[in-house]
Amino acid sequence: MGARPRVWVSQPLPADIVGRLAAHCEVDMVAAATTHAPGAIAAALHGADGALVTVNDRIGAAELAHAPRLRAIANIGVGYDNLDIAALDEAGIVATNTPDVLTETTADLGFALLMAAARHITEAERWLREGQWRRWTFDTMLGSDIHGSTLGILGMGRIGRAIARRGHHGFGMKVLYHTRSRLPEPAECEVGAHYVDLDTLLARSDPLVLALPYSPRHHHLIDAAALARMKPTATLVNIARGGLVDELALAEALAGGRLGAAGLDVYEGEPAVRPELLALRNVVLTPHIGSASLATRRAMAQLAVDNLLAALGFGPNAGRPAN
Ligand code: DGY
Repeated sequence: MGARPRVWVSQPLPADIVGRLAAHCEVDMVAAATTHAPGAIAAALHGADGALVTVNDRIGAAELAHAPRLRAIANIGVGYDNLDIAALDEAGIVATNTPDVLTETTADLGFALLMAAARHITEAERWLREGQWRRWTFDTMLGSDIHGSTLGILGMGRIGRAIARRGHHGFGMKVLYHTRSRLPEPAECEVGAHYVDLDTLLARSDPLVLALPYSPRHHHLIDAAALARMKPTATLVNIARGGLVDELALAEALAGGRLGAAGLDVYEGEPAVRPELLALRNVVLTPHIGSASLATRRAMAQLAVDNLLAALGFGPNAGRPAN
């Protein structure tokens, strides 16, 4: 029998889930959550046959150059823009992600941000806690209606469709979407969504939710020009990746009254958040918690472990990342 494969786990994970890996592999799991400094990932991958990583861990040719034995990387997350897929392909390393299990939880957070931003919920709560609430007044914290409004969705994968379903069936919203490939008609009907071009989506959305994967060609897709096409009362929600939005242009539009509100879960330089955004009242900011329910995070970790075991030859699920 050959030596057991060595696996690096970049975040502490529940013992029972890691135990399934440890049944087959030598596991080297970090003791406490940390941001791995440049060079640390390369060092950690040096003797590893497999790795279980998260969206924070950027792995490309430079890290792979130090990982001669590496055969598989399982990403705990559906987005995998942290991995240089071309470099992994070149090195013959399998990469996997965790689609499906986080769809509904992430759509829930998208809707929560949409509602919180459009109805000033976090701003109103801060104001109340600061002791500023003296009486009911006609015009305290007036927001925008969610029910009956036009919900725009950019990116109509699993998460986009789950948001559309909530808007259409739960809130009677008119749903417009734009995506790389238009959905077949039955799928559009199921979520009550109408395909439009990007300019129309920007111009007609009340809330606009970004639910598309990041790729360099979509860098700052929502820039000053795109924001200028949106309604001044609109709410922008980003649950995808920070790099899709020009955050300075967004902060300027929000500060200048050219956009109503924003709800952001992801940031270009996360965990750093731009001071220009932190200074604004009409933006709701959460720390990349789209998939952060206990059940979903466990399901993601379980699936990532299954994927890694399969890729290392201990199960049936080896595979390429799915979109
Ligand atoms: C993902 O799955 O891509 C999320 O952003 C991580 O929770």
